Amino acid sequence: MTKTALITGASSGIGRGIAHKFGEEGWEVTLVARRKENLENVANEVKEAGGKVHIFATDLTVEGNPDKAVKYAIEKMGKIGTLVNNAGMGRFEMVPDIKDESYQEQFQLNVWACMAMVRSAVPHFKKNGGGQIVNIGSIVGYLGISKGSIYSSTKWALRGLNESWREELYPDNIKVCYIGPGFVLTEFNGRKEGGTPEEQEWAMVPGDVAHAVYCVATQGPNSDIKEISIQVLDRS
Ligand SMILES: NC(=O)c1ccc[n+]([C@@H]2O[C@H](COP(=O)([O-])OP(=O)(O)OC[C@H]3O[C@@H](n4cnc5c(N)ncnc54)[C@H](OP(=O)(O)O)[C@@H]3O)[C@@H](O)[C@H]2O)c1
Repeated sequence: MTKTALITGASSGIGRGIAHKFGEEGWEVTLVARRKENLENVANEVKEAGGKVHIFATDLTVEGNPDKAVKYAIEKMGKIGTLVNNAGMGRFEMVPDIKDESYQEQFQLNVWACMAMVRSAVPHFKKNGGGQIVNIGSIVGYLGISKGSIYSSTKWALRGLNESWREELYPDNIKVCYIGPGFVLTEFNGRKEGGTPEEQEWAMVPGDVAHAVYCVATQGPNSDIKEISIQVLDRS
């Protein structure tokens, strides 16, 4: 197992939690997102935790930038062992109110950017004899939600890509896994980072998702975790 990871959306929330986990475990990581200052802060946290870290500030929805992110990670780390497609966003609107821009920006980041990252990384994985891809989807990649039709359909689309890539890539020892979490306390969709005291009583934290990602990244050579659905514990 190559202990290097390229993690998108690592400037906050779940991506930051994944970066922390890999850092604690002594991995070398390349962190990608738009906010450079946040990435620098996360990089310091990863270093303090014991990891080696590089940052690449870019907007992944712009053509050419996913390729540049992959290239940068290869230059810095030599090899990418695990690619974590985590950057994502959601807009929540009833169907009559859906704006063309919000449709486009969600599909561009949650689907197109993931595809572009994988398209760039696959030749590198093939050259190295394999690799691991982890796509952070959502619990709404399995169901529909009111006001979330576009967000939900981006996560279904990502699951479709995940299934197809599995079929295409397993002969090259490239493993592909979809992780679909439920509600996690992050700044997603304008929420307050860390959540309200009431939410903290029941919701998951980024470390819960990071735990699953690390489990996938460190699975044995004959194991191929296809997907993990992480639900909030039902205490009702
Ligand atoms: N929180 C939840 O309840 C939940 C549940 C299930 C799934 N998810 C999924 O988990 C993933 C992470 O979300 P989160 O909850 O951690 O929210 P978050 O804190 O808002 O994180 C989103 C990350 O994506 C990055 N990002 C956004 N637009 C980008 C762009 N154009 N180019 C590059 N990076 C971009 C953000 O960084 P910059 O703003 O610095 O670019 C940030 O690092 C998403 O795919 C989301 O759909 C979240």
